[in-house]
Amino acid sequence: MPDCKYFTTPIFYVNDSPHIGHAYTMLIVDLLSRYNKFFDKDVYFLTGTDEHGLKIQQSALKKEIEPIELVTKYSKNFEKLWEKLNYTYDDFIRTTEDRHISVVQTILQTLYEKGDIYLGTYEGFYCIPCEMFLLEKDLKEDKCPHCNREVSQFEEKNYFFRMSKYSNWLKEYIKENDFIQPKFRANEALGFIGDGLNDLCISRSKSRLSWGIDLPFDNKYVTYVWFDALINYISALGYPSDKFEEMWPPSVQVIGKDILITHTVYWMTMLKALNLPMPEKIYAHGWWLVDKNKMSKSVGNVVDPIEISDAYGVDALRYFLVAEMTPGNDTSFSLESFVQRYNNDLANDLGNTLNRVSAMIHKYRNGILEKPTSSDNKNNPIPFILDEANKIPLYVDELAVNKITNLSGKLLHIVNKYINESEPWKISKVDDSYNYNLLNEILYNCVESIRIISGILYPIMPNKIKELRCVINYSDDLQLFDSVVKMNVIADGHEIGNNIIVFPRIE
Ligand code: MSP
Repeated sequence: MPDCKYFTTPIFYVNDSPHIGHAYTMLIVDLLSRYNKFFDKDVYFLTGTDEHGLKIQQSALKKEIEPIELVTKYSKNFEKLWEKLNYTYDDFIRTTEDRHISVVQTILQTLYEKGDIYLGTYEGFYCIPCEMFLLEKDLKEDKCPHCNREVSQFEEKNYFFRMSKYSNWLKEYIKENDFIQPKFRANEALGFIGDGLNDLCISRSKSRLSWGIDLPFDNKYVTYVWFDALINYISALGYPSDKFEEMWPPSVQVIGKDILITHTVYWMTMLKALNLPMPEKIYAHGWWLVDKNKMSKSVGNVVDPIEISDAYGVDALRYFLVAEMTPGNDTSFSLESFVQRYNNDLANDLGNTLNRVSAMIHKYRNGILEKPTSSDNKNNPIPFILDEANKIPLYVDELAVNKITNLSGKLLHIVNKYINESEPWKISKVDDSYNYNLLNEILYNCVESIRIISGILYPIMPNKIKELRCVINYSDDLQLFDSVVKMNVIADGHEIGNNIIVFPRIE
């Protein structure tokens, strides 16, 4: 097993403008990457854009420009947005790059020579928007089962990948290995395999589609976009190469549930045919919906991440996307739910607790934190906070990132309860050394609680947490989880910073 954890996102179709559904796929992998670095692990995060296919060819024709010009412009939009949303990928692959094309062609040639790709006749239907060949049994009321649009019927000579040959192997592999997550999605893949897979048509005649990668053994054809796109996960590592040997197989490949079959069936059988190890985990998250419909450009209901982050901040959007969705399920987006969560979790729970603690230290100790000399306060929340925080590596491993934001909310409530029950305002009025030390202890525990709770949210809101930490004037621990999740870190006599409002309420 490689030492470096390798995480991938699907590569995005460039003909769609990025929306929060795309931003979510990226965010999950960004968090995998940032949290694992936080746990002191080596990680490699790959993303990119999927740039071939009929839709691009048609759209370039309409705009009277070369397809490459079009895809370059659109691909840059994704890169710009990812930079804005503070995603920390290590490589961005475009399927129009030579480094990708050459690997796709090598693989096609290898599988052709091995007899796993052969020339046959395709009879069936084709859905242009989905770029999918369909059989009669796949159609739903004579329409495409994926997009419910008209399909066209035709017959032509084409190349096929002998996917059927791997049906039994794949079925057994899925049953014996828990690599498809959440677990219930494995049944979908098994259902698709059914009594056996068909061979997969992997060529498109150049008479209809020229914007693709040429088959190295027959230049009258280009390869099917999915066969091209899936290979990005290995072409980006320069397969075959030392880097590939070091990184492969991926620790987690994150996808949306709409592309489960292409990844758990096409991709797995392609890897098997190439005798390559299987990904350790394929994680399919749910969809962002608007009024119960999947957010997508064709439905015209997309929420633009730029608008939300310009209005309320990048980190607030990152937090919302993590907190609001249980990754395996679908979740509806609405501005009301965004505002509600922001005010509740960030302005109130996190922001107000911070300001409450800081105000007490300024009021009772002129902003100087004194370490208690003995411990008398039985309700100290820190041991519980540390125990709970130590579950975070497990949550990250399960990709249950929303459990981290749930946890921070729960811990902040505990801190507030601690303050209410300890009644520092009463203790401050008693002028003796016992109560002086007791108040020191309460204030110290509160600051340490805030330090730990904000620290565990650092990978989710890197900029806001740094800003927030100015209030307690301490951020030396933020790079490592083990430095955050630790007791008594802040020194005696530490001067805290000015009280600022980090998350102003949205009215
Ligand atoms: N190009 C293919 C993937 C090829 S990978 C070898 C593709 N691209 S996509 O742009 O349509 O989708 C990219 C990712 O965005 C997918 O994981 C998809 O599930 C995700 N989302 C697109 N719309 C979405 C929502 N409304 N909600 C959540 N994620 C969704 O598929």
